[in-house]
Amino acid sequence: MTKDQIREMFRLDRYPLSAKYDPDWVIDNEMGPNVLWVTEAMCQAIELRPGMRVLDLGCGKALSSIFLAKEFGVQVWATDLWISPTENLQRIREAGVEDQVFPIHAEAHSLPFADEFFDAIVSMDAYHFFGTDIHYLETYMLKLLKRGRQIGIVTPASPNQLPVPLPDYLGEWAYFMNSVEWWRHHWDRFPELELELAEELPQGWELWVHWHECVKAANRLKERHLSELRELQADGGRHFGFVRMVGRRREQ
Ligand SMILES: C[S@@+](CC[C@H](N)C(=O)[O-])C[C@H]1O[C@@H](n2cnc3c(N)ncnc32)[C@H](O)[C@@H]1O
Repeated sequence: MTKDQIREMFRLDRYPLSAKYDPDWVIDNEMGPNVLWVTEAMCQAIELRPGMRVLDLGCGKALSSIFLAKEFGVQVWATDLWISPTENLQRIREAGVEDQVFPIHAEAHSLPFADEFFDAIVSMDAYHFFGTDIHYLETYMLKLLKRGRQIGIVTPASPNQLPVPLPDYLGEWAYFMNSVEWWRHHWDRFPELELELAEELPQGWELWVHWHECVKAANRLKERHLSELRELQADGGRHFGFVRMVGRRREQ
């Protein structure tokens, strides 16, 4: 396929902002299903205004942080554990947003930020690594957010809780996915958080499959993509998808 045809495959009506970015850049830096689509899905559900201070937790290679800065004029603390901030700074510089995006190396349970520093907190395809603990939100996260402001995540989740044992076509790794209902309950319990949205991301499974089809068309499919694609296709959307959640820290 030509570069233009690949760009066309990446273009989705529901995510027009993501279509501005070079597919090669997205694939070169991918750590999961197209992070720009996932970030744009988040931005459609959360309030972002120029100048806001945003924590992007588990930002990986900081594509989401760069996107937030460019598209919404916010300042982003691009925070991640596995990816070096020096490497991220290089990408941030190349994208021309060095004055707006600040790379930070931190573990989600020891975040180096002052209480009530952020106007918004977001996390794309990462919150399930640390945020399933029942005390995580209240102990480590919510205090960093100004009162009256929002936290939003999009992360893999199953439309229905995974059965035990798993269907034959699914590897054990799939157990990390909780159901959308589980996630709703997980956040709804916190008195300090007003849950504004907890839904299955519309067409989440299709989005995930389409991502792999794009990577395949670009001739960049690796073995790990292939096995995930096989599982996704066998699943047909029963257990693969995303949850999109937004909550607001209450004033009191
Ligand atoms: C699947 S990657 C997604 C990265 C990026 N958001 C994206 O979509 O391309 C998950 C990210 O979560 C981060 N992560 C996992 N556990 C973490 C923790 N305990 N503290 C901070 N970040 C963590 C990893 O460093 C990794 O970059």
